[in-house]
Amino acid sequence: MSASAAPTSTTPAPYASPPEAARPAQRGEALARRLYTDPALLDAEQERIFERTWQLAGHISALPRAGSYLTARAGSQPVLVVRDEEGRLRAYRNVCRHRGSRLLSGSGQCKAAIRCRYHGWTYRLDGSLIGVPEARQFGERLDKAALGLLPARVEELCGLVFVNLDPDATPLAELVGDLPARLARYRIASLESFAPADDTQPANWKAIADNYIEGYHIPIAHPGLMRLLDYKHYDVECYEHYVWFEAPLRSKPSSNRVERLYAQLVTPMPGLSEEDRRVWRYAYIYPNTAIDLYPDLVSTWQFVPDGVDRIRSVYAAYRAPNSGARTRLVQWLNMRMNRLVTDEDIDLVANIQEGLQTRGYECGPLSRREDAVAWFADCVRRDLAPVLSEHERTGS
Ligand code: FES
Ligand SMILES: [Fe+2]
Repeated sequence: MSASAAPTSTTPAPYASPPEAARPAQRGEALARRLYTDPALLDAEQERIFERTWQLAGHISALPRAGSYLTARAGSQPVLVVRDEEGRLRAYRNVCRHRGSRLLSGSGQCKAAIRCRYHGWTYRLDGSLIGVPEARQFGERLDKAALGLLPARVEELCGLVFVNLDPDATPLAELVGDLPARLARYRIASLESFAPADDTQPANWKAIADNYIEGYHIPIAHPGLMRLLDYKHYDVECYEHYVWFEAPLRSKPSSNRVERLYAQLVTPMPGLSEEDRRVWRYAYIYPNTAIDLYPDLVSTWQFVPDGVDRIRSVYAAYRAPNSGARTRLVQWLNMRMNRLVTDEDIDLVANIQEGLQTRGYECGPLSRREDAVAWFADCVRRDLAPVLSEHERTGS
C-alpha cells in the first residue's frame, strides 16, 4: 500500500475484521453454499439488496444539458436518469403510469418533456404528468396529480451516476467516506467513454463478486498479472461500504512482450503523479460496482443477477480526451492484458459455480488475503438475514 492510501484520522473506520489469531479455526466466514445455488433467494436479493443499494447507472457525460437522459437497471428494475430544467439530476422508474410501457431506452436527448410512445402520455422533466391525449375519455378516473413518474434517488460520485430505489437510503456520499478523495485524481468526470460492452456470464453474482475482491488466486490463475504486479504488495483495505485495492507494478521487466511494453510506455493521465504511474488500483462498492483505476484509463463494471447462475454485466472504459498515439497503444495493451485476465476469471468462476452444486460441500476457511470475501459475505448476510437459516446467518 502506498503511504497516500493509508487510512488517516479523516477516513472512515476500517471494517472491524478480527485479527487472524482471534479467529476460531473453523469460523465459516464465506457464504453458505445455498446462497449461490438456490433460485428461491433471487426475489429476496432483488428486494433487500438491489432495490436498497446504490447502483451504477452511467457516466455524467451522458447528461450534459436539460433533457439529456440515460437508462439503466437497478437489479431487475428499469430506471431512467434525466437532467431537469434547473440542471439537477432526477431519476425515475422507467415506466409509464398508464399501462406500463418502458418510457426511454439507451441514452440521448429529449425535448422539454418525456412522451410515452404508446398512447402519448407526456411527463415534464420534474416527473409530473402534463399531457394525456383524449383526456376526457377517462372521465373521473384520471387524476393527473397522482400519476407522475415514480421517483428514485440519484447521486453523482466523481462523474459516475448512481441510482437507488429506496427513498430512505443513506446518501452514497455518506456511505463511501473518503472514496471520492481517492478517486478525485483520476478526474473521471472529464474522461470520455470508449469500448463499452454488455455481457453475460454463467455464475451467481456473488461468486463473481468473491472472485473480483480477492487476489489470492493471482499466483496460480493469472500468470500474466503475476508477472506484471508486485503480488507481495497487493493490498486490500476493507471499509464499511467499499473495499480499496492497490497493486504496484513490478520494477522487474516482464518476460512477456505485451506486459513489458505496457510497463515501459505507460504514462499517467492528466491529474496523476509519477507514483500513480506504477500502480493499479481498484475500488469495489457494495454490492456490485467495480471501478478499475489504471494510470492510462479507468473502467467500470457492474453486474446483476439474471437467474441464480447467470449475470448480466455492463462494462465501460474511460480515457482522457485527445489521447496521443502512444497513449492509445498503451490503452490497447492494457485492454489486451485485462481481456486475458477476464477470460481466465470467467472460466474460474464458471468452475466455482459447477463445484458449488456439490451437496455436502461447505466453504473452507478464508485466508487473510480473502478478507474482502469475508467482508462481502458479512454484508450479504446482514441484508438477507430475515430469509436465512441460523447457520447461514451466522456464517459458522
Ligand atoms: S402506456 Fe404510456 S401512454 Fe399508454
Ligand atoms: Fe481473477
